[in-house]
Amino acid sequence: MASDVAARCIDHLASVDRQPSCGDVDAAALCRALREPAPEHGVALEPLLDSLFRDWIPRSFTTIGPGYFAYIPGGGIYPAALADFIADTTNRYTGVWQAAPALVQLEANALDWLRAWMGFPPEARGLFTTGGSMATFNAIVCARERHLGAEIRRGVLYTSDQAHHSVLKSAKLAGIMPDRVRAIESDDRFRLRIDVLREAIAADRRSGLTPCAVVSTAGTTNTGAVDPLDQVADVCDGEGMWHHIDGAYGAFFYLCDDLRDTLRGLPRADSLTLDPHKGMFLPYGTGALLVRDGAALRAAHEATAAYLPAMPHPEDFYDPSQHGPELSRGFPGLRVWLSVKLFGAAAFRGAIAEKRALTLDAARSVASLPGIVMDAAPELSLFAFHLTWPGATRSEEDAATQALMEKTTALGRVMVTGCTAHGRFLGRVCVLSFRTHQREIDALVEDLAASIQDIVPKAALR
Ligand SMILES: Cc1ncc(COP(=O)(O)O)c(C=O)c1O
Repeated sequence: MASDVAARCIDHLASVDRQPSCGDVDAAALCRALREPAPEHGVALEPLLDSLFRDWIPRSFTTIGPGYFAYIPGGGIYPAALADFIADTTNRYTGVWQAAPALVQLEANALDWLRAWMGFPPEARGLFTTGGSMATFNAIVCARERHLGAEIRRGVLYTSDQAHHSVLKSAKLAGIMPDRVRAIESDDRFRLRIDVLREAIAADRRSGLTPCAVVSTAGTTNTGAVDPLDQVADVCDGEGMWHHIDGAYGAFFYLCDDLRDTLRGLPRADSLTLDPHKGMFLPYGTGALLVRDGAALRAAHEATAAYLPAMPHPEDFYDPSQHGPELSRGFPGLRVWLSVKLFGAAAFRGAIAEKRALTLDAARSVASLPGIVMDAAPELSLFAFHLTWPGATRSEEDAATQALMEKTTALGRVMVTGCTAHGRFLGRVCVLSFRTHQREIDALVEDLAASIQDIVPKAALR
């Protein structure tokens, strides 16, 4: 069975260049037809694999494709799948240190590598999560415990109007309701405005509330904006507040020497969301949280039960269930550990620097296409733009820019998506798949150019 599955997967990967950038996802009828009760008796593996690889997997966004510039790409490096295979087959218990000490140590090593890469101090601790959303949720729990204790309703959290919606969701899950979350206005480069932040904090203090945390973003999903992290850190220091950075998209760009200045202040955060399934190209399901004061992460989660192995074990050993909400869990650290051991840190740094360089090239070419206005130049590896022509109204520009994303994607070589920010529809390109190289950038520019030819004259005639 393992050989059959591996052969299918390898064939799938071998054809990735030829797969359309976006499969036919208009699949409501198919999904209805797929509903069925649990089968009473099993069937052979082969026909199941046939259906999966022939009928169902292709009807999806080709997220592993080299031409995937939509949303935030990642790609999914293959050895991580092998790590999962080992982890799931051996099914060892990594919830508590005593049950698999050496394996838990590998996970601790992988977390410590992330810590060192992000410039966090040795006493920082972390947690592998299923993604960025869960990391941010956990960070807000730490901030709440530290600054509010039982007085949750008085606490106020600040973020920007460009923050990912997982911030609001996380706050709510952590007991900080939407009426206690302030979406601070962003500037013309989509970055959180420090002056507005300071005013909002002061106003809440005057009302008897307790400003407790700021969630800034190192690379927004909409336009790739990096908030003024260092200045937010100053505000939080001065106000005695927790500073969490959502680096789900952008944190790994801290590995690029030439972006240290853009991301200045990142290592000063109280906590940081990382998404190795984005910036380390791992498969979905790999997020991570770092907390500067490891004791704060532990304090938020520490718990034991009489039936578990006796606590405490030696202080210097990491224990996942004492640093996160889960007890029984898989072994998420193995995919990170194996990938870094196999390729080495330099390969990850090199790949992320390549994506950055490709983005600068792509942005230069896209900016020179007829009718393109660059709304957000790349700070990291994402840029956003809209389409215009003489006499165009805002709503015509919005519709044309949306059509540009759709038509370009329909050509099949690349997939691009848009967003709405500051009241207009923006096209966006995010370069973050490890499979993307110059060839796909050329295809992107060619297909955008061809689609513009198709759209602008028609729109201008309306
Ligand atoms: C900036 C940012 N924050 C948070 C998230 C949520 O991360 P996840 O989808 O891994 O939960 C994303 C996802 O794209 C993101 O771009």
